Order: sequence, then C-alpha cells, then structure tokens
Amino acid sequence: MSGHSTYEPKTAVERWIDTRLPIIRFGVDLMDFPTPKNLNYWWTFGGILAFCLVTQIVTGVILAMHFDPSGTGAFSSLQGIMRNVDYGWLIRYIHTTGASMFFVAVYIHIFRGIYYGSYKAPRELLWLIGAAIYLVMMATAFFGYVLPWGNMSFWGAKVITSIVGAVPVIGPSITTWLVGGFTVDAPTLNRFFSLHYLFPFIIAALVGLHIWALHVPGNSNPLGVDVKSKSDTVPFHPYYTVKDGFAIALFMILFAVFVFYMPNALLDTDNNIPANPLQTPAHIVPEWYLLPYYAILRAIPDKLSGVIALAGAIACIFALPFLDTSRVRSMRYRPQAKLYFFIFVVDCLVLGFCGAHEPNEQVIPGLTTFNLLDSDLNTYVWLSRIAAAYYFVYFLVITPILGLRETPLPVPESISSPVLSHPAAPPAGATASPEKKG
Ligand code: HEM
Repeated sequence: MSGHSTYEPKTAVERWIDTRLPIIRFGVDLMDFPTPKNLNYWWTFGGILAFCLVTQIVTGVILAMHFDPSGTGAFSSLQGIMRNVDYGWLIRYIHTTGASMFFVAVYIHIFRGIYYGSYKAPRELLWLIGAAIYLVMMATAFFGYVLPWGNMSFWGAKVITSIVGAVPVIGPSITTWLVGGFTVDAPTLNRFFSLHYLFPFIIAALVGLHIWALHVPGNSNPLGVDVKSKSDTVPFHPYYTVKDGFAIALFMILFAVFVFYMPNALLDTDNNIPANPLQTPAHIVPEWYLLPYYAILRAIPDKLSGVIALAGAIACIFALPFLDTSRVRSMRYRPQAKLYFFIFVVDCLVLGFCGAHEPNEQVIPGLTTFNLLDSDLNTYVWLSRIAAAYYFVYFLVITPILGLRETPLPVPESISSPVLSHPAAPPAGATASPEKKG
C-alpha cells in the first residue's frame, strides 16, 4: 500500500505479531486510508459489490451441500432444496436474485467509472482488473444458469457452447473439451458445476488485486482532480464505512423486495421444465444481464462475424483507458462527452431490449418500414444493428476523437477549492464567525 502507516502497536503481543506478520497494521491502514472527502453515492457500489460477492459465496456453498450435479439428479435435487431443506427456498432465492443484483451493481459501478473517467491514468490497471472480474462474473453466471438442468439451462448451454465452436480451426475442439463430449449432456453439467464452484474464488482473488491497485493511487473522485493536500481527504473509517454501510442497507431493501415478493420475476419459466433435448424452447434467451451482448451477436447474420463482434464488444471495455484521449477525467467538465455517454447508456438498454426479443418478432405487428434490404429482417434486427453500430462508434470513434477536439469547462484546482471559493464560504484561513452574544 502507498503512504505512511499510522499504526503504533500498543501491547507486547501486538508488537510480537507486527514484527512477524503485520496483519493488524494492514487492517488499521485500510481503515485509516485517506479517502477524498467529496465521494458521492455512486462510489458506494464497490462496497455493495463486495457484499454481493460474499452473499453469493455463502449461499452457493450451502446450496452445494444439497445439490446433486448429475444429469439424472440435478433437477430433482433443486426441488428438494426448495421443499425439504430447512429454509432451502430462501437460500436458493437469495442466490438466484443475488446474481441479478450483483450485475445491477456491477453495471452501475462500470458506468460510474466511465462517467467519472476512473479508468484514466494512473488507474488503468485497476480498470483492467475490474474488466477481468466482469468477464469471470459472466462466465460464472452462465455456468450457474446451467446447473438447475431445466430446459432453458440445457438449450442456453447448447447455444453458448456452439458460439465457441464458430472459432475457426480450434473452435470445435474447444467445444468438445468444454462440454465433455460431442453434445451438451450430463458430463457438461458436472464440469460446469466444478467451474461454477471455482470461479467465485478467482473473482475473490481478483477483487483482492483490484483493492490493492486502488490503494496505490487512491480513489479518484467526482471532480476528477488529484488529491493535493491532507485537507482534501478524510479517513476511510468512520466516514465511508458508515456511508457504504447505509448504501448496503438500502440495497438490501431492494434485494429483499425481489427475494420475498417476486423471486421468479428474473428467472425463466421454461426452466421449470426438466432439460429435454427433443424440445427446443420457443425463445432461447440468456439472463437479462447478458442480453446486450446477445443482441450484438445476432445483429450480424454470419455466425463467425457475430462471434467476433461479441468478443470485440467486450474487448472495447478492456481497451477504454487506451482509447480515451481526453486530459480531463470527469465528464462533469465535458458537456459533449456527457451527451454521448448518456446516449451510450440508452444504447445499451436498447441492445438489451432487442436481445430479449426474437429476430422474427415485430415491435409493432405489421410494421415493416425498416425492411429495406431483406424482407426477412424486421425492426428488432435493424434496431440491434443501429444500436450495435453506436456501441462500437462510441468506443472506437467518439471517445478517441472527442478527447482531442472538445473544449472542456474549467476544472477546479483542488477538491477543496469549489467549496472554499463558494460566495457563502468564509475567506481562506478565516475561522467560523463568532456567535452573537445576547
Ligand atoms: C466483484 C466485483 C467488484 C468489486 C467487489 C469491486 C470493488 C471495488 C471497490 C470496493 C472500489 C472502491 C470504492 C468505489 O470506488 O466504488 C472499486 C473501485 C473501482 N472499481 Fe471496482 N469492483 C468490482 C468490479 C469492477 C469492474 C467490473 C470494474 C470495471 C470494469 C471496476 C472498476 C473500478 C474502478 C475504475 C475503480 C476506481 C474508482 C475511482 O476511485 O474512481 N470494478 N471497486
């Protein structure tokens, strides 16, 4: 960690431990960490994500005690968890809802990072580790979705593993290795269970690196200006432990609403039918958090090109720190960038919306105005093509060019200066006005 340690061992035992394994010093330094004093609530999502990760691991380990990862037993063992295991329904619903809540939090965390330029120097590695976490999260969620061995699990696994098969030369061998045979079957379920158990611990290790990479430069902040003096910061504890704790409590209310009042809202009804290789579901769709990528994949009719676009969409997130040429970090001072950013957010929602619908569905039945080139293609296909095009234009054209061309608004000199230069503030160096004596 950067900076000077404030820890002084007080007892002989503490001194003994400190000279051998400075673990108490490590904890105290984390708590005392100088944190910019102007962080807003968007900065509480890192803590919320840590809460989600712990929740998923704890509930997942308990579920695994009762789950049977075999082709014949998986579906019925989940029925057993829901009906026979004490509070099994609660543990399962926390785990399934938790996956969605985890993605809600991670998307907010990523969009916060983009808006405030948190990925810019010297935090590029912090961002890259974050992007790696996101990738492993998507894989973990996919493996988990297959485990109930319902009909959507089965067909989802078929579609996703066939995507890998589109890679020239090595693709088919990788698919065979991944599914454990020539088609999705019991061995697939078994190895997905193994990987689903393993990956959260890889995420946990990456989160450790993420926090380490955060503590070297320290947090950025909504103004995007560097910390200039000690007066720009406050210790992490109690200021941000309390603020993060409050945000986690609010987040838990939303979480509980889904767990207790609509636990199946984010699940697919087709997954209540056991896996059936002879019955393809009417709509094969992934979970909501993967829909934008699914729309990009399907926007291009050629399978391999679709797979390249999908991989490219994820690669753009990794490349962002090296695509952005702006010298100003926060979009608060970049009005044009802000506009394109908000269009980008809407664009991702549009992609998600398109991903949820079949390409041969029509937004408004009978409306075929966009069928200009190919009469088989409907509005959703065109909408997803336009949205996918903007996605790439945002990263590959707007972000690099706008950074060079736009004129940003004046950026404050330090974190404290906007407060101190406010007309209502006392002049620098002056103390608060003395109270009037009656
Ligand atoms: C399990 C997932 C994750 C956890 C537990 C996590 C945790 C955290 C924590 C605790 C912070 C400090 C508080 C805050 O700024 O919110 C942070 C900051 C940050 N995270 Fe994450 N994170 C995760 C995923 C990601 C992802 C997917 C990305 C980007 C692709 C990312 C990028 C960043 C960046 C750039 C910062 C620095 C923010 C700043 O100071 O301006 N993180 N993360």
